[in-house]
Amino acid sequence: MKVPALDFSDVVPFPGFDVSSTLPFPYRPFRAGRYTMTMGIRKMPEDDWLVIDNLYLQEQELRRHLLRTNREGVLQCLPKAEEACKEALQAIVDFLTKRFPLHFQLPKDRPGYIHNAITDRTFRIAEPLQQHPLEIAAQLVMEDINLLMQGVGEHPNEYYLQASYSMAPAGWYIQERIGWPLWRIHHPVPMWNEKLRKPMEKFFLGLKVSSPVQRNNYFMQMDDTMFQQDPFPDSWPCPPKIEDIRIRHERQTLRRLPRTRAVMFMVRTYLTPVTDLVDEKDNLWAFREAIRAWPLEMAKYKGRHVWGKVFEDWCQEVLGDYVPSDDGDVERSRSLGAA
Ligand code: HEM
Repeated sequence: MKVPALDFSDVVPFPGFDVSSTLPFPYRPFRAGRYTMTMGIRKMPEDDWLVIDNLYLQEQELRRHLLRTNREGVLQCLPKAEEACKEALQAIVDFLTKRFPLHFQLPKDRPGYIHNAITDRTFRIAEPLQQHPLEIAAQLVMEDINLLMQGVGEHPNEYYLQASYSMAPAGWYIQERIGWPLWRIHHPVPMWNEKLRKPMEKFFLGLKVSSPVQRNNYFMQMDDTMFQQDPFPDSWPCPPKIEDIRIRHERQTLRRLPRTRAVMFMVRTYLTPVTDLVDEKDNLWAFREAIRAWPLEMAKYKGRHVWGKVFEDWCQEVLGDYVPSDDGDVERSRSLGAA
């Protein structure tokens, strides 16, 4: 029986969408209170699967540059994932042409092609393809694309990273970790084994085609590097300036592809100067509380010893004795992606 493709018939078209005036969504993925390590997943509204904003052209340039100059570093695909990559491309094409009909079109006079009207580039999407499916997909979306599969490694119940296009790796080399199971990919993450391994493995086995989810996370960094393969530095020559400190946050989505059963893990990375929070006292307060609440091992993993004092001093200057007035503020940050 032929398995139908992902169904985007309920996705609401957004023809009036203006790329150049749409700012990146202001995720504030932090919450005050005791630190608990959880998966932090929530339901993903289908319309929001792939997002586009005014950084599109600039990031597309970086994507093409990396494909030209460091192909191995951005694109990896193991043989068992070739079909899943094609299925992922089809899903991306189906979604984008439905959601952003003015920006992504299937030209009637050129069947088998998609036209990206934002970059003015056209790609063949029917067999035989002229480029790797992930290379085409990466030139349509703003998210990094990872495909994980079951039944391709030593343990039948584990998921293994089988393909990736990653313009914004958060301190890892895809050419090293390709083929690794989830637990091994996460081995540098403190507490992961005790707290997240079991729930995550169960989640991957049970993920339904009809129930895509999203989550947010964040790191800190001292410059604007998106393509960050080396681990985040453990020391800095002199204390960083507050203007240099960035919140590197990710919006991640997970969904299952119906035909190959691969799990598609998409990651959009945002770099926000912490000084952008100067007028968001409630969010800045919650952020400082969240960072203070990290267990020592998490603080070390996220490099708090590098930027923490500069950040604390600045928060003191901006916040003084400020405390949010009620829980409504916490609700607000939750709605903007707090994990
Ligand atoms: C429900 C799914 C997932 C959860 C709950 C999760 C959780 C985490 C957590 C807690 C961290 C530490 C950073 C932080 O505090 O946020 C992390 C890091 C990371 N995750 Fe995941 N993750 C998930 C899926 C994945 C998948 C599918 C991949 C495959 C590419 C992946 C790749 C990574 C990498 C490369 C890091 C950085 C590790 C390092 O420091 O070297 N994650 N993840």
